[in-house]
Order: sequence, then C-alpha cells, then structure tokens
Amino acid sequence: MIRIRYSAAARHEARLLWNGHKGLFALLEAARHTGPIARVPRLGWVVTDPLLARRVLNDHARFGMVGEGGVGHMWAQLFGDEMARFFGGARHTEVRTEARDLFTEESARHLVERSQGGHHAALAERLAAGETVDVADTTRVLAGRLVSDLLGLPADRPDGVYRKVFAAGERLAGLAMGTAASTELAPGVLARARAVVDEITIGVDEAYRTAGPETILGRCREMDLGLPLARGLATLLAIAGTETGASGTSRTVALLHDTGQQEALLADPGLLDNAVREGLRVSTPAAVIGRHVARDATIGGRRLRAGERVLLVTYLATNNVGPFDIRRDYVPETRQLWFGGGRHLCLGAAVARVQIARMLQNLLSQGRPYRIVARRAAARVLVPTYASLQVTVQP
Ligand code: HEM
Repeated sequence: MIRIRYSAAARHEARLLWNGHKGLFALLEAARHTGPIARVPRLGWVVTDPLLARRVLNDHARFGMVGEGGVGHMWAQLFGDEMARFFGGARHTEVRTEARDLFTEESARHLVERSQGGHHAALAERLAAGETVDVADTTRVLAGRLVSDLLGLPADRPDGVYRKVFAAGERLAGLAMGTAASTELAPGVLARARAVVDEITIGVDEAYRTAGPETILGRCREMDLGLPLARGLATLLAIAGTETGASGTSRTVALLHDTGQQEALLADPGLLDNAVREGLRVSTPAAVIGRHVARDATIGGRRLRAGERVLLVTYLATNNVGPFDIRRDYVPETRQLWFGGGRHLCLGAAVARVQIARMLQNLLSQGRPYRIVARRAAARVLVPTYASLQVTVQP
C-alpha cells in the first residue's frame, strides 16, 4: 500500500504562507477558530464556509466588487470610474461574452502550446540529461509569455523580458497587501501603483491598434472599448493570470512530491485531472476574496449591513475538506471555489488547469518520479509561492 506523507507537505505549505504574507498567515490562523461566519474587529465579516462563500459570490445585488472591501475598489482608484462601472455593469457581461471563445478548454490548450510549448520541450531535454531545473522560475517566465500572447503583446522575446513582466505584476499586487483593513489606497501607494501600470502596459497602445481578433486587445478594439479601459483590462489580466497561475503550478508540483503520490499518478495517468484539481484546492492561490456589502443581507443567520465588508477565506473553505489526495473525487460543496464563483468566476480557469497539467506531464515524462533537491519560499508577496523550486529526475 502507498503511504501518503501529509506532514511534510503541510509544513512546506505553512512556510510559504508565513514567508510570503504574514498578514494572510495570521488571518488564516485566527479564522480557523471563528466558525462559518464571524465579525472580526478591523477586518469586517470573515466567512470560512464554502456554501456561505458561494452564496455571497452569487448574490450580486447585495455584494459588490466595487466599494470599500471589494477587489474592484482598487481597480477603480487606479483606472477611474469607467473601470468601476465595468466591474458592476452590463459592459462586464458583454466583454466576457465576446471573449468567451478565447478561454475554452480547446483555446486554452492551443494558447499553452503556442506560448509555452518550446520551453516545455527544452525543459524535458534538460531533465532527460539529468540536469536540475528551477520549476518556480520557469513558471514565472511561462506565465509572462502566456499573458503577453493572450493580450496580443510580443510573446517571442528573451526570458528576461517575461521575468520583468511577472515582477512588475508582483509589485503591483504587493501594493494591495496592506489592504486587509481598508481597500482605500493612500496617495503615495496610488502613485507607485500608476508607475508600475505604465511599465506593465508599455506595448498596449500599439497592440490595441494592431493586434489580431484572436487576442484580448484585438477584441477590445473590435468592441470599441477605448484605450483607457483596454489598458485597465490588460493590467487586470496581467495580474489575474500570472501570480496565481505560477503559484498554483509550483505548489502542485511540490504537493505531489511531498505527499509521495507521484508513483500513483505514474501508474494511472488517468488521475492527472484529479492531481491538478487537488493541487488547486489545497494551494488555493487566491486565498481570500473581498466583497463590499452593497445592501443589507442575512448570511448564515448573521445580519450584514450595507457599507460593511466581507472577506471570503477560500483557502480555509477548500482546505477543510482534507489533505491533498489524487484519489479524492470532485467535492460538490467546494466545487471550484479556488476560482471564485458567480459572475466573476475566474475567466482563465481552463488556462490555469491546462498549464498545471502540462507541467506535471513534462516532469513525469521520463516515466520516473522527480525529486525536489532544494526550495526557497518567496518573501513578501500577495500570493504565496516558491521563489525557487529545484527539481531533477535521476537518469
Ligand atoms: C491557479 C490559477 C488561478 C487562480 C487560483 C485564479 C483565481 C481567480 C479568482 C478567485 C477569481 C475571482 C476573483 C473575484 O471574484 O473577486 C479570478 C478572476 C479572474 N481570473 Fe483567475 N485565477 C487563476 C488563473 C488565471 C489565469 C491563468 C487567467 C488568465 C489567463 C485568469 C484570469 C482571470 C480574470 C480575467 C478574472 C476576472 C474575471 C471577472 O471579473 O469577470 N486567471 N481568478
């Protein structure tokens, strides 16, 4: 019988949270004991139950993205009223509908192959030669390439360009780290954020004019969204699609290794989808989702008042199910809460799944388990992850 080693995996995950984001670590520790929904001083309502969290995410009349506590509040401060209206209004539905075909399973497979295939082939060669590769660094480069390709920005530059794209996204997201108690950005933070946005959107003007219709910026032009909103959406995508994807990939690679379940996956490759789902469930890279209470609401028997804020602690809601287990079936209570829910359910869910599956397939393509020979947790990041994850396959 295969023995699954849970404690090593849990220890490594805890270290990622502690090193990456002490505030998040403290919130998770405290919220473990608060029950399904509780009011916490300074933070607002904290929800840890998956069904209650989904109720909040599905109730768009009472819980909004924009307004104190909502994710869109920061975007509105950065990009103005038009972006605020976008998150809550008809434009949002229109853009999602127009872009839907770019995010299907099939489009995701094409996108991953087009933007990352060459890198994966090179990675496989290095592993076959017995070299050690840094999976964490690779995920950062691959995430930058993928998002650039999807937007219609140049996707064939040297790796260093995409490391910079990723680092800029990380810096912008990092500015949101002090917003646990309020999503109102101080003037200094706003100025720093605008400088990072200029860096991220450097090629957007040209791409908005010239990119093909199979890209996001090309679609924005066809919809006549205007350059300012297109810049906002490009930045949203650059943030939404990079850190979470890279974190989910490195952490799934580590979880499969640390729990000793590679042999089971090698013996039954049909478990690949389960391994990806479990990696996303246990790592839940978007550990907390914020919402603004737009109208009075009753959730889990508690009365929430308009103007308050809610933190949905998805990390706990999904992890309460149990440890990483590739034989675990789909869990109906959590569904895919790591991708959110309702109108703003992650648009890149298929892209994220395909990326992780592609990395696992590559690392196991020698037909033998891989070994993590060294690792380092990233420090002070919004999304906890590995700064470095050195992997090798014994020849
Ligand atoms: C492991 C990887 C990922 C995770 C865990 C994740 C998680 C999430 C979550 C939780 C939300 C909802 C936020 C909210 O409701 O406030 C979201 C939204 C979004 N994600 Fe992802 N994401 C991942 C990867 C990606 C990728 C690869 C892309 C793009 C290629 C992407 C694009 C988006 C976009 C555009 C939204 C906004 C959707 C909207 O507001 O309608 N995500 N993501």
